[in-house]
Amino acid sequence: MTARGWFVSFEGIDGSGKSTQARHLAERLRAAGRGVVLTREPGGSQGAEEIRKLVLEGDTDRWSPETELLLFTAARRDHLERVIEPALVDGKIVICDRFADSTRMYQGLARDDLRDKVDALHDLMIGREPDLTILIDMDPGRGLERALSRGGPEARFENFGAGLQSRMRQGFLDLAAEHPERFIVIDGNRPVETVAADVAACVEDRLG
Ligand code: ADP
Ligand code: TYD
Repeated sequence: MTARGWFVSFEGIDGSGKSTQARHLAERLRAAGRGVVLTREPGGSQGAEEIRKLVLEGDTDRWSPETELLLFTAARRDHLERVIEPALVDGKIVICDRFADSTRMYQGLARDDLRDKVDALHDLMIGREPDLTILIDMDPGRGLERALSRGGPEARFENFGAGLQSRMRQGFLDLAAEHPERFIVIDGNRPVETVAADVAACVEDRLG
């Protein structure tokens, strides 16, 4: 099968505004008559949403770092098989709120130094990168404030605190510098509409 669609992911630390911007972009592209699938990770398919509950709720030491990596990868594989690939084959624009770069950062860097295992598992089981990754760069303190103000049961990684947010931010910026062909970095410390206008300009430029 040939993928005819286009795949864009949003990445960044918790509370950086990814979900907000992914929604804005989806609305804008739909209004322009494009076929859009807006989805998220962990989750996005029925099975992956079930795995989401396993990894994001409960005690932070519920899973070892290795088991957690396997669960996130299993969720991604299901999401890819059942939602992302079929949509791309159908010629849709897939907008995904987080994808494999989040695993590179959170499982590869945050809990333990598992980056080699993250990369090996990605090559073995996922083997796909987005056509474009939009990194919403954000002051870690403000991101954490925003993320915590949402409340709710899904607080595992947010609970790791400000030190982790800072390391994640730098990790994402390093990843973007390593892959300039795929990444665009956008300053998220501005009003929603200003950030959305930058995102739209980048996407329209790439889509032609
Ligand atoms: P993420 O998906 O990156 O965790 P969200 O889009 O859920 O971030 O945003 C986190 C919180 O911050 C939400 O309450 C949202 O309304 C708010 N928010 C998002 N973008 C901005 C912005 N540019 N300025 C101020 N608040 C924002
Ligand atoms: P998300 O719902 O996007 O959180 P937020 O809106 O706060 O950014 O993602 C939930 C959490 O899952 C987030 O803390 C990052 C974490 N995560 C991983 O640890 N590994 C992964 O592969 C993914 C996709 C997310």
